[in-house]
Amino acid sequence: MRKILRIFFLLILVALVAAQFFQPERNTSEASENNILTLHSVPENVAEILKSSCFDCHSNNSTYHWYHAVSPASWMVADHIQEGKKELNFSEWGNMDVFSQITKLEEMCQESEHREMPLKSYLLMHPKAKLSDEQIAVLCDWTTRLSEELLVKAVEE
Ligand code: HEC
Repeated sequence: MRKILRIFFLLILVALVAAQFFQPERNTSEASENNILTLHSVPENVAEILKSSCFDCHSNNSTYHWYHAVSPASWMVADHIQEGKKELNFSEWGNMDVFSQITKLEEMCQESEHREMPLKSYLLMHPKAKLSDEQIAVLCDWTTRLSEELLVKAVEE
């Protein structure tokens, strides 16, 4: 019995080591002119919130830590980034039409208010990314203002 257990753990160890050779591609790229921060004059405190709490999963540039180089954590993170970018990519903001932008702005406020975003699993590893009530108010103020601005512009055009 002991021997079987030992072989079992040895096999798991070998599998874990082997898994380290398979790593997802990293989410990094050149700065894009379609980035939300380039296209709109985003106030400093709002830009800070987006950068520290949202960009890791909703942009083309994630900040990585040492444990992101370890399977299977690296794959979980890659999956969140892929899913997050599918919904909303701040690096490609300018590629959305204005009505999608307005919808996304509303969702950004709602998801934050309901504490759905940033994802809970992310907050475990990034406690500083947790939004305070004040930050949520700042974010929602700004998303409301910008969506009104965009709507006025869309109607005028
Ligand atoms: C750890 C990665 C991660 C972080 C950090 C993160 N998100 Fe997300 N976000 C996701 C994923 C994955 C989805 C798609 C699945 C879902 O809705 O849960 C998503 C979906 C969304 C959506 C679309 C929701 C919908 O249902 O249509 C919005 C809006 C959004 N996030 C806003 C934000 C904002 C704002 C922040 C920062 C305050 C943020 N997210 C931080 C991963 C993340």
